[in-house]
Amino acid sequence: MAHHFITGVAGFIGSQLADRLLAEGHFVSGVDDFSLGTEGHLASARKESRFHFVEADVSNPDAAKDSFARAVQAHGVVDFVWHLAANSDILAGVADLTVDFKRTLGTTYGTLEAAREVGVRRIAFASTSAVYGEREDILEEESGPLLPISNYGATKLASEALLSAAVESFLENVWIFRFPNVIGPRATHGAIYDFVKRLTAYPGTLRVLGDGTQCKPYLHVSELMDAMQFIVAHTTDRRNVFNIGPRGEGTFVRFLAEQSIARVAPGTSIAYTGGDRGWVGDVPRFSYSTKKLKRLGWTPRITSDEAAIRAIDEMACEQGL
Ligand SMILES: NC(=O)c1ccc[n+]([C@@H]2O[C@H](COP(=O)([O-])OP(=O)(O)OC[C@H]3O[C@@H](n4cnc5c(N)ncnc54)[C@H](O)[C@@H]3O)[C@@H](O)[C@H]2O)c1
Repeated sequence: MAHHFITGVAGFIGSQLADRLLAEGHFVSGVDDFSLGTEGHLASARKESRFHFVEADVSNPDAAKDSFARAVQAHGVVDFVWHLAANSDILAGVADLTVDFKRTLGTTYGTLEAAREVGVRRIAFASTSAVYGEREDILEEESGPLLPISNYGATKLASEALLSAAVESFLENVWIFRFPNVIGPRATHGAIYDFVKRLTAYPGTLRVLGDGTQCKPYLHVSELMDAMQFIVAHTTDRRNVFNIGPRGEGTFVRFLAEQSIARVAPGTSIAYTGGDRGWVGDVPRFSYSTKKLKRLGWTPRITSDEAAIRAIDEMACEQGL
């Protein structure tokens, strides 16, 4: 059994990953500053003696080093780091560059400094389709030039670069996973999250950013974790870059709104704000190639639409519906 360290462990994906690794019998340590994650997400992990948590801001290298040192004290050498801490509120980063500079790039810097200090050799990183910017072609790992259109995408790309460079100095392997939209229980943000919450609180009219024709791939968090674990188990390159996506094409925002209404508040009308995108820095349409992942031997089981319907139901259940 290995000792895994997760940054952003109280977030949506981090807490799901912690629960999965603990269920597999691993030791799990994690850090979070609760800027976006919640204590409630740690409820099941907290029951395990193999779980160790430190509340700290990993963009501060001293705090990051302290959290890693405490993890080593608790469970011994850290075998693997999952670096998930970031600003996931993309709109907040549009308004203020310091948000992504600190929380998305700064957390990578702090994590790398701490990882070096305690002798970590392997890191997986949660990157994003946003590093590709707005492109007409199907996004492949080799697509370029990479010209992000949001501060979030820009600082994720800068993080990728820092991780790549660290392979030359102290890391043996790095995995860069470019996620599309990830959905499922415990989500802390995103269109489905907003729709379900707003429909629960204010049924009647649902305000939807853009004209509903935005179309992106949505991946269920369970499939994301399957894919990440599969890739780590089946790759040994020093730098491993993979898109992870659902089966088939993406899902229209209009579909998300209609399905959310059908599940949460039937009869609600939709008010589109208009325009081809939801906000500044939004990439309204993209298609993801997951051929590289298929060649490695992993295929997603469900489509983006199926993942959306499942996640809407799960999130409605979380609201007690
Ligand atoms: N969910 C998605 O659709 C999606 C898509 C692409 C990439 N990602 C990436 O995956 C990762 C996890 O995303 P998520 O959806 O679980 O988001 P999330 O916001 O739920 O989780 C991120 C966690 O990081 C924590 N955090 C932020 N700044 C921190 C800091 N300075 N120190 C310590 N903790 C800090 C937050 O409190 C939060 O718990 C993020 O890096 C995100 O950018 C997510």
